[in-house]
Formats: sequence, structure tokens, C-alpha cells
Amino acid sequence: MEKYLGKKNIAIFISGRGSNLKSLIKYSKKKKSLFKIILVISNNTKADGLKYATKSNIKNFGIKYRSKSYFENRSLKLLKQQNLDLLCLAGFMKILSYSFIRKFSKPILNIHPSLLPKYKGLNTHLKALRNNDKFAGASVHKVNQKLDSGKIILQKKVKILKKDNIKSLEKKVLKIEHEIYPKAIEKFLTSL
Ligand code: GAR
Repeated sequence: MEKYLGKKNIAIFISGRGSNLKSLIKYSKKKKSLFKIILVISNNTKADGLKYATKSNIKNFGIKYRSKSYFENRSLKLLKQQNLDLLCLAGFMKILSYSFIRKFSKPILNIHPSLLPKYKGLNTHLKALRNNDKFAGASVHKVNQKLDSGKIILQKKVKILKKDNIKSLEKKVLKIEHEIYPKAIEKFLTSL
């Protein structure tokens, strides 16, 4: 992005609580932010994040996950109606097919609650605690056809203390997720 001409349009996919979505919406409303969120889609029609999107006047849709292809085809239709620069997964708990990634054709980012390449997939905090790791953390990476394996855009770590458990670790990591996701999006957008 050599010369910056207005904010970039992004869409967000969520599955539930939507605390990352909330923090991204909050950030995007700042004058200095380089992006605006114009569409939110959830595979869970009851996701709390959808209510927050509505409150924030952002177009949003809950699409029942009848099957991967059903969800992906409906989403693609909605995405293609917008002039998007980027799709961000924020607590989206489904794996997108390669066909979706190809058809969408714009970049996709994801936030993952571990220091990738460590602990792809689920139960990241449990795995870090079980392995007596000294650090946990979060990573924002590009989405490709392999789960949690695309290029890392930004990462931040937190110390694991003796007294930490899954809940306390989740809380600490979530806090840094909220911090790094907007930064990672801007870093990525300015590198385009
Ligand atoms: C976040 O910790 C996010 O990193 C994780 O789910 C949580 C969603 O929280 N995502 C994944 O594990 C994806 N593989 P949120 O709905 O409050 O943003």
C-alpha cells in the first residue's frame, strides 16, 4: 500500500463469544485505524459476537453449518457482494476448504492461541501446561490450505507462572490477542 487512500474493507468470521471481534471493532473506529469492518459472518446463529456487530451497525449474518459446502457457498456469495480487501478469522472454529480459499481469492488471516508452529489445532493452553512450557502466547498468521500453518504475521508471548491453570492462561493470552490482532492486520495491510 504505497499511498494510503482511505480505509481497507475487512470481513470477519466468528463462531461464538467474539471478544476478538469486539476489540477489532473498537480499534477500527479510531481515526488512525487503517481498516473498517463491513461484514461479520458466523457459523453459529446464536453467537454473541453477532449481537455486538448489530449494536455496532455492522452488516452480519449467522449461517447454519448444515455442511462445510453449504456454509462456504453462502458465505462466498455474501463476501463477493462486498468490495473486500481481507478476511479475518477471529475465534472461527471451522476449517476452511482449499476451494473456499481459492474462490475467495483475497488474503485471509487467523488468530491462534499459541506460539505457532507449536500447538496447532485445539487445546493449546492444556498442551503448553502439560509440557511445562515457560511461555504461552498468540500468533496471527495467513491462512493457507494447511491448518494453522501459514506465514506468521505477528506473535507475542506471555510468561507461564507456576500458579497458572487453563483458565488463567486463557485470560492472559486473550488479552494479548486483543492487542496484537489489530496491529497484525495493519502490518499486513501496509505490506500489500
Ligand atoms: C480465541 O482465543 C482465539 O484465538 C481462538 O478462540 C478464541 C475465541 O475467542 N481461536 C482458535 O482457537 C482458532 N483455532 P473470542 O470468540 O472471544 O474472540
